[in-house]
Amino acid sequence: MTNCDTVTLSPDGFGLTKAAQVLGRGGLVAFPTETVYGLGADARNSQAVAAIYAAKGRPSFNPLIVHLPDLTTARQFCDFTKDAEVLAQAFWPGALTLVLPLRPDAGISTLVTAGLNTLAVRVPSHPVARDLLQAFGGPIAAPSANPSGRVSPTTAAHVLAGLSGRIDAVVDGGACDVGVESTIIGCAGEPVLYRAGGLPLEAIEAALGRPIRSELEAGENPSAPGQLASHYAPMGRVRLNAHRAEDGEVLLGFGAVEGAHLNLSPSGDLTEAAARLFDCLHLLDAMTAERIAVSPIPDHGLGRAINDRLRRAAAPR
Ligand code: TXA
Ligand code: MG
Repeated sequence: MTNCDTVTLSPDGFGLTKAAQVLGRGGLVAFPTETVYGLGADARNSQAVAAIYAAKGRPSFNPLIVHLPDLTTARQFCDFTKDAEVLAQAFWPGALTLVLPLRPDAGISTLVTAGLNTLAVRVPSHPVARDLLQAFGGPIAAPSANPSGRVSPTTAAHVLAGLSGRIDAVVDGGACDVGVESTIIGCAGEPVLYRAGGLPLEAIEAALGRPIRSELEAGENPSAPGQLASHYAPMGRVRLNAHRAEDGEVLLGFGAVEGAHLNLSPSGDLTEAAARLFDCLHLLDAMTAERIAVSPIPDHGLGRAINDRLRRAAAPR
């Protein structure tokens, strides 16, 4: 969303009721956590999640962290391994994100997970974040509330400096205590450190009683090939900027194209296309498409992130 008035909400019952209403109708609300301010949207609503990427101007679809009120709720969205149980019991609520197998019935937008079958979840400890989760009553997807490539915000003023006019609201809960993002641990199998953060690795290793492996990611806008492996790609071979399907190809269209088997957005709307992207890639797999032609996508706004993802899908593997 661009050119809207961003309202500042108080962290009390009145402000949080408003914030929950905005989230409920698919809007974007920045809110404080103990680590940094997050830019929240309903994690079940693909259009709302696409709007996060548009507001941040993020040039790629990194999977997002889903914020939940407690471990019991988190078990409805993910399967907890034994190690994950230990870490959640020890450090939630707090600056720990766990990447776990996504439950098929979780109802999370595929844009949140970037089409992966794992989900990053975290239970924040900040009282305002907890009150907002309670008022909203659903999963909140939230990356840090800064324009892509800028430093993460630790006050409402930082959020407004970067995103005023691009998001619906910010809940002003003062300064964040921790000031760096959560530590991310992959816990679908043997635990692995994906991102160093607010919770020290030593504490995690002490709780598990053994050292863990590191597989650190290449920052927020990774172009490193390592990113490729962690992203969902369709099984078929992908040809980009195709104006029509050749023999044996399935056409993934964009805009008013003829002969498209699937269309990211018949009206040529980039937000809708982003919202549908990973669903369409999964559908192409379900169709066992072996060769996929994709219509040209304009390379501005969310189109840049869509094209980034499609280029990765088309890269030799
Ligand atoms: O402290 C924090 O974690 C803040 C506050 C707002 O909670 N959030 C945050 O989100 O830093 P974000 O979007 O900037 O970072 C999310 C990172 C992504 O870069 C990605 O590497 C990782 O989480 N991630 C999410 N889902 C993943 C998955 N399924 N597999 C691997 N990594 C994942
Ligand atoms: Mg960030």
